[in-house]
Amino acid sequence: MSEQQGSRKTSPMMIVAAAVGVFAAPVIAIVLIVQLVLSIQAGHVDKDDPRMADAAVKERIKSFGEVNANDPTAARVEKTGEAVYTEACSSCHGSGALGAPKYGIKGDWGKRNAQGFDTLVKNATNGIRAMPPRGGNPNLSDIEMSRVVAYMANAGGASFKPK
Ligand code: HEC
Repeated sequence: MSEQQGSRKTSPMMIVAAAVGVFAAPVIAIVLIVQLVLSIQAGHVDKDDPRMADAAVKERIKSFGEVNANDPTAARVEKTGEAVYTEACSSCHGSGALGAPKYGIKGDWGKRNAQGFDTLVKNATNGIRAMPPRGGNPNLSDIEMSRVVAYMANAGGASFKPK
């Protein structure tokens, strides 16, 4: 055996390289497998799950205590007499509850209409006996009160013109 042959078999560099290979290979393999599993899992979010629907997600992640301010510069849209009646007055005036003059019944409205439009509007706005101020809706404007009183009184035989 020559010196050269001996060193080819067992040089210290070869031992180091072998050791690194033996220990590093499994580590690299494990890292690759973990990465593979993670990438497969990432693709497994079920988009059809109702919990993943856009609206559901937004609902979950929305900020707490949203401010829902009305724009104070927005023009107020005055409702029609009919809309106000349906919303705020029909509960009593549709049925005659508490002795309210019934909508569309001329006999109920004749004497009241004879007081004049302004008095009717004033009494509906300020309240009179069992009739609550603005029908219990403080948000109704004067214009809406004028419209709805004309709407109701005219159905009872008057021909008032609202403001
Ligand atoms: C809680 C029941 C109730 C609601 C709601 C209600 N009213 Fe009345 N209203 C009455 C009663 C009761 C009377 C009769 C009061 C009386 O003369 O003793 C009356 C009377 C009136 C009169 C006649 C007033 C007068 O001078 O003779 C008008 C006009 C009127 N209501 C308008 C309205 C309008 C407009 C609304 C909706 C914005 C409304 N009411 C909502 C119970 C109600």
